[in-house]
Amino acid sequence: MGLHSVTLAAVDPVENPYAPGAGLRPPELAGRDPDIESFETILGRAAVGRSSQSMVLTGLRGVGKTVLLSDLADRARQRDWVVAQVEARFDGDSRDASFRAMVARSLNQSLRQVTGTSRFPEKLHSALATFKSFSITTDPTGALALGIEVDPQRGRADTGSLELDLSELAFDLATSAADLGTGVILLIDEMQDLRRDELAAICTAVHETGQRTLPFYVVGAGLPSLPAALAEARSYAERLFAFRPIGPLSPDAAAIAVTRPAKSQGASWSQPAVRVVVDAAAGYPYFLQEFAKASWDYAPGPRIELDDARVGVQAGRERLDGGFFRSRWNRATRAERDYLRAMADDGEGPSATGEIARRLGKSRVSQVGPTRAKLIHKGLLYAPEHGLIAFTVPGMSAFIVRQVD
Ligand SMILES: Nc1ncnc2c1ncn2[C@@H]1O[C@H](COP(=O)(O)OP(=O)(O)O)[C@@H](O)[C@H]1O
Ligand SMILES: [Mg+2]
Repeated sequence: MGLHSVTLAAVDPVENPYAPGAGLRPPELAGRDPDIESFETILGRAAVGRSSQSMVLTGLRGVGKTVLLSDLADRARQRDWVVAQVEARFDGDSRDASFRAMVARSLNQSLRQVTGTSRFPEKLHSALATFKSFSITTDPTGALALGIEVDPQRGRADTGSLELDLSELAFDLATSAADLGTGVILLIDEMQDLRRDELAAICTAVHETGQRTLPFYVVGAGLPSLPAALAEARSYAERLFAFRPIGPLSPDAAAIAVTRPAKSQGASWSQPAVRVVVDAAAGYPYFLQEFAKASWDYAPGPRIELDDARVGVQAGRERLDGGFFRSRWNRATRAERDYLRAMADDGEGPSATGEIARRLGKSRVSQVGPTRAKLIHKGLLYAPEHGLIAFTVPGMSAFIVRQVD
């Protein structure tokens, strides 16, 4: 009995290592070494005074952009960089936490930390003064400059224009950070939700600091429509950013994502069981976590066998239908659901917007334009290019077909 209970504990649901959920750090961040390396290259080059392009990660929802972004942020923090991390997602129409305020809040935290641990805090003085002036211009109560005990630098980053102020702020922060042998990173998740003027301001700041080889870098993450949005905001955006598509994991990386977390818990997977989960998820990280988690919970353990994986995939699919897909479907109004159903005829898509309008019995695309715009705003759809429309999550069309029939 003693031994038996030990082996059972290996796949105890309490010990389940898998982490299906938006932004939940996976037990093993598999298959992203090339992306991590190119980020490390930015940090390493900055340390020797060389500049690099900023980075933009693009991909569908659930592919692992947010967790990768957090991993990169941690790496920069470990090297004592000034790191601001914001999520540009605005629920409904309220933008009470403006982009500018989010940047200030996040920088406030990072600057306090860096100042506290720096061996030469006086080298940060002018950066802190400019930050204070940026913050107070954003929120005169001073709530966005807590613990920054310096006088604001008059005439720096305080015009109220995001474009002018962000550039001056980036310039002064990066100058001080460079003096300390580090730099400044602004990480922006859901970047496709920023307004055009905000994207333009970011481009200007990256451009101006880059021209002077100052270590200010932006790492953005967003839907595949983000590169086009950046190009529309500033024609030279293409030169500022290295665009890195974040896709499904290769079969080998997917297998590692599944097996390694078990190994570190004293459990294991049979090879056929791994293959069932990897094939069912098609390398898509969110689904891998969901299926691996369910398989673990079904396995009497300590080895997860083929049958456990089969049941796990089935149970995982039901969970996705009841949550991941269902929550998106529930967000859509009746007219929006008609639009989504018309798209589902094209499978994974993308669909031509003209063709969708025709299927809905409209003679002009503009008649369904507002519906399409709302679905984009709700995060269910994105426009891969002009005249095309696609789902932001893989498998949505199959889910819709299952609902209708
Ligand atoms: N490289 C990876 N290896 C294993 N699991 C991953 C990986 N990247 C993401 N995941 C898992 O996938 C899910 C979605 O990740 P997330 O970063 O929220 O995706 P996105 O931001 O692209 O929508 C989470 O459950 C996460 O744990
Ligand atoms: Mg995300």
